[in-house]
Amino acid sequence: MQLEARKIGFYYKKNRWIFRDLNFTIDAGEIVGLIGPSGCGKTTFGRVLSGYEKPQEGTILLNETPLPKRGYQPVQLVYQHPEKAVNPKWRMEKTLHEGGEIDRELLEVLGIKQEWLSRWPNELSGGELQRFCVARALRSNTRFLIADEMTTMLDAITQSQIWHAVLDIVKQRNIGVLAISHEAALLKRICTRTLTIH
Ligand SMILES: Nc1ncnc2c1ncn2[C@@H]1O[C@H](COP(=O)(O)OP(=O)(O)OP(=O)(O)O)[C@@H](O)[C@H]1O
Ligand SMILES: [Mg+2]
Repeated sequence: MQLEARKIGFYYKKNRWIFRDLNFTIDAGEIVGLIGPSGCGKTTFGRVLSGYEKPQEGTILLNETPLPKRGYQPVQLVYQHPEKAVNPKWRMEKTLHEGGEIDRELLEVLGIKQEWLSRWPNELSGGELQRFCVARALRSNTRFLIADEMTTMLDAITQSQIWHAVLDIVKQRNIGVLAISHEAALLKRICTRTLTIH
């Protein structure tokens, strides 16, 4: 399994390219870091790679095939602000099972307590809520995970707990991870290689 960005170019405003002619490949099971100064386009790249934004040039290919337009997405994105990624009017249970069941083992590994399932998002801490977003992104048909500052807003202990769980799961399932972070030390710890964009 391989995820490839081939000669992609993207802009929000016509001809003001955020990046252009960008090539990138990640294999199943690889953990790649992406680092670069604020505003250089890391989040944008993550959104393009996971199919949330369509590039003006080039293509995103999963095993040489364009990403599916509908249905469950094999490339999943988790980002910095879990509170913006969930519906505030849904209890956690509903958010979690939107798009299919999630197995109990995954919840356990991520330290999600049963009693949290019946709560509203605003009744959870940021770290607790982020665990749900990670669980939701790691359902059984996920092949690649884009983690965009996934643990930046969390304290060191929670950050390390979440990464520990994620690394366990991705290893078991041979999922490829693109870890976007400005924390060089974190990337050095978890990644097999690091990509820098300017
Ligand atoms: N929706 C948008 N419309 C217009 N411009 C945008 C939009 N989103 C981002 N940009 C601009 O695109 C550039 C890249 O933004 P992006 O969020 O990808 O950077 P980043 O590398 O993730 O930064 P940070 O490290 O601060 O998260 C920035 O100059 C930003 O202002
Ligand atoms: Mg960003």
